Amino acid sequence: MIRVCFVCLGNICRSPTAEAVLRRLVRDAGLESHFEIDSAGTGDWHIGEPPDPRSAAAAERRGITLTGRARQFERGDWDRFDYVLAMDQSNYENLLRGAPKTAKSKLRLLRSFDPDSGENASVPDPYYTTNGFDEVIDLCHVACGHFLAAVREAHGLPP
Ligand code: 4NP
Repeated sequence: MIRVCFVCLGNICRSPTAEAVLRRLVRDAGLESHFEIDSAGTGDWHIGEPPDPRSAAAAERRGITLTGRARQFERGDWDRFDYVLAMDQSNYENLLRGAPKTAKSKLRLLRSFDPDSGENASVPDPYYTTNGFDEVIDLCHVACGHFLAAVREAHGLPP
């Protein structure tokens, strides 16, 4: 079983989007039984809230439904997950500060799996934008595709 947790700031925009996108890619590949996929936020402001309606609408335009309620990333998540995928540099640094030494290698920037993106490329925070939500889902789609390919290879999953 490969356990993946996407992490952003609020867990209402970017990380629930990446979670739903990867779930769709994994389902389309017939690999559902190999994955556990979740998301969380580094912040606590939105705990218990559903995904932001603007993120939900952008996802629906691509036939993807966002699910779940916001939660805060917690220390036990370092044991629970194999991959902790940060959406931007700030999320990455916050996570790194709280990571047990032995778990630091689980932490990556999501877009670091995209060979066409620059070093330290982020999925930009759309919260205070009006039209950043479609960009978020497009970036997540590309990066999650590369992530899934890398994981298939690394874990010897069926092609
Ligand atoms: P997310 O977006 O980190 O992608 O869920 C945000 C949600 C809320 C806030 C910032 C970013 N906020 O400042 O409340």
